[in-house]
Amino acid sequence: MLSKPVACVLAAFVGVLSIAVARWLGDSCPDLNLLPGKHVLITGASSGIGEQLAYKYAGFGARVTLVARRVGKLEAVAARCAELGAAGVHVLQTDMGAPEAASAMPAAAIAESGGHDIDVLILNHAAFAESLTLELESESDMQRHVVTPMRVNYEGTVRAAVAALPSLSKTAGRLVVVSSASAKAPAYFMAGYAASKAALHSFFDAMRAELGVTGRGNVSVTLQVLGMIGTEQVMEEQSLHGIAMPVQECAAAMVCAERSRTHESYIPGYIWGLVRLNVFLPGVTDWAMRTMFVMRVPEYVERIAAAASGIAAA
Ligand SMILES: NC(=O)c1ccc[n+]([C@@H]2O[C@H](COP(=O)([O-])OP(=O)(O)OC[C@H]3O[C@@H](n4cnc5c(N)ncnc54)[C@H](OP(=O)(O)O)[C@@H]3O)[C@@H](O)[C@H]2O)c1
Repeated sequence: MLSKPVACVLAAFVGVLSIAVARWLGDSCPDLNLLPGKHVLITGASSGIGEQLAYKYAGFGARVTLVARRVGKLEAVAARCAELGAAGVHVLQTDMGAPEAASAMPAAAIAESGGHDIDVLILNHAAFAESLTLELESESDMQRHVVTPMRVNYEGTVRAAVAALPSLSKTAGRLVVVSSASAKAPAYFMAGYAASKAALHSFFDAMRAELGVTGRGNVSVTLQVLGMIGTEQVMEEQSLHGIAMPVQECAAAMVCAERSRTHESYIPGYIWGLVRLNVFLPGVTDWAMRTMFVMRVPEYVERIAAAASGIAAA
C-alpha cells in the first residue's frame, strides 16, 4: 500500500504526463491529403460521434458509406455529407446485432459504393443500457444489459472486421474500433456495456499481432478509447455539462488517430492518465469516477441508495 504523499505525487505525475501526451497527440495529424476519394465505411453513423465522423471525412473529400438501422436519419446525414464535399455518399441499413447481416455488411457496402474496396473501416455502432449490477433481476434485464451489448458491440464488430479484412488488405487499409474508458477502469451503471468493450481489446490486440505475422501487417488496427463525449444524448444530463468533450472535437481527434495508425488512442487525452492511474492507484480512479461522474447525477445517487437499502433490508 502506498503512503498518501507518494500516492499524491504519483497522481500528479500521471496527470502532467497525460496532458503532455494529449498535446502531442493533438499536434500530429498526418496523411489528411491522402483522404480524397478514399472509401470510408462508418457504422453507427446515424447520430452522435459516427454522424460527426461522417461530416469530417466528407469534408476531407472521402467517399463515405454510412451504416445504421434508422435509414431516415442516415439519409439526412448523407445529404449533409454531399454538401460538405464527399466524393460519394452511400447509405446501408444494417442491424449489426444480426450475425448474418454484420458479416455481410462489408461486401454489401463495397457493392453499394460501385465496387470500391474499403480504405478505412470505423466500427463505431453500440448498444448501451444503463443498470447497476444489483438491478439485474430478471431474464429480460440479462438480455438487455448483458446479452445484447455482447451481440451488438462485440460480436457484430468482430464479424464485420473479419469479413472486411480481404478488402482492407488490398488497400493497405485501416481498421478502427471504437471502445470506451469503461473497458479500462471500473464504470458505474454500465457493467454489461463495459464488458462488451473490454472484449474488443482482447480480440483486436490479438488480431493486430496476428496480422503482423501473416503477411497482412499493412492493415492497421486502432482501438479508440473514448471518455465522456458531449453527444446530444449525453448532454441531456445537465450535470454532465462542462466535463464532456465536444463531439466535433472528439471526431477530429479520432480522424487524426486513424491517420496516424496509432494502436490505441485516448480521447480526451487525460483518459490515458486515468487508465494508467487505475493500474497503480485503483482507489484514486474510483474516487475520481464517483466524484466527477456518478455523484453528479441525481438519478444515480437515488438508485445507489435504493440498492443499498434493499441489501440492508434483506
Ligand atoms: N458518447 C460518449 O460519451 C461515449 C463514451 C465512450 C465511448 N463511446 C462510444 O462511441 C461510439 C458512438 O457512441 P455515441 O455516443 O455516438 O452513441 P449514439 O449517438 O447512441 O450512436 C450510436 C450509433 O450506433 C447505432 N447502432 C446502435 N445499435 C445498432 C445496431 N444494432 N445496428 C446498427 N447500428 C446500431 C445507432 O444507430 P441506429 O439506432 O440508427 O441503428 C447510432 O448511429 C460507441 O461505440 C460508444 O460506445 C461513446
